[in-house]
Amino acid sequence: MDIEKIKKEIEDLKKQKNAVIVAHNYQIDEIQEIADFVGDSFYLSKVCADRPEDVIVFCGVHFMAESAKILSPQKNVLLPEIDAGCPLADMITEEDVDSLREKYPDYSIVCYINSPAAVKAKSDVVCTSSNAVKIVKNFPNDKIIFLPDKNLGSFVKKQVPEKDIVLWEGFCITHYRIKKEDVLKAKNAHPEALLLVHPECRPEVVELADFVGSTKQIIDFATSSEKKEFIIGTEMGVLYTLKKKNPDKKFYILHPGMICPNMKKNTLESVRNALLEEKYVIDVEKDIMEGARKALLKMLELS
Ligand code: 13P
Repeated sequence: MDIEKIKKEIEDLKKQKNAVIVAHNYQIDEIQEIADFVGDSFYLSKVCADRPEDVIVFCGVHFMAESAKILSPQKNVLLPEIDAGCPLADMITEEDVDSLREKYPDYSIVCYINSPAAVKAKSDVVCTSSNAVKIVKNFPNDKIIFLPDKNLGSFVKKQVPEKDIVLWEGFCITHYRIKKEDVLKAKNAHPEALLLVHPECRPEVVELADFVGSTKQIIDFATSSEKKEFIIGTEMGVLYTLKKKNPDKKFYILHPGMICPNMKKNTLESVRNALLEEKYVIDVEKDIMEGARKALLKMLELS
């Protein structure tokens, strides 16, 4: 495989098709290197809502490309690998939301962006890991159902104790791997390092952290900190930007298994093929589109 040749093909195809390439912080280094925009779920959803190009190649997982399509319905949104899904997003269905509505009629539903469009469509507002606390605080109801991530939900519950928050039982299989013992071991090995974790980690891990935030917030925190060593509790893709922006600092990944198998499915070849063959086209049913768009726009308004 001639990497430079593929990169050149991607550059040419991008111009030819009037396309923009966006990549999540968990993508492989080579994709982050060629992407026009790299960031967390919130940053990328704002970028996609505002871009002038006709085609968006979304290097991430399915729910992210789906959210880009919902925010830019007139654009052709492409996901390079169609089976790049999210097990957490699949832990809730629209039928589950119907049952929750029936059981808790006076509660509002705050839905993490890691969810299917049909679930967003039945929710009152969407949030990401970077704005979940703010959205729950600002939403004009003291009774909230937070879904589908129970760990992000627990984090929010602690930050917003004044509200009654019901949690769903979903979790991210990658972040769930980190246990309290891993943290104690890492802190022991690197006593000078600050611990920065994603709120999808278990509550007992989050409790020991010096900073809790989205992938972008973790990168920004480490970059602006005067400290030189950091233990990182999220998917290892963040190391690309952390090291690029901070060549003089040291980063230790909290657990060797912090690799999201779905995020790692996209490759330079699949990005090239996505542009060349205009695949895989992400579409959302019209009646789902309307409700999901409303919930996503509400997030942009409240955050
Ligand atoms: P971000 O909000 O940092 O993009 O996190 C998304 C995610 O899926 C974490 O596993």
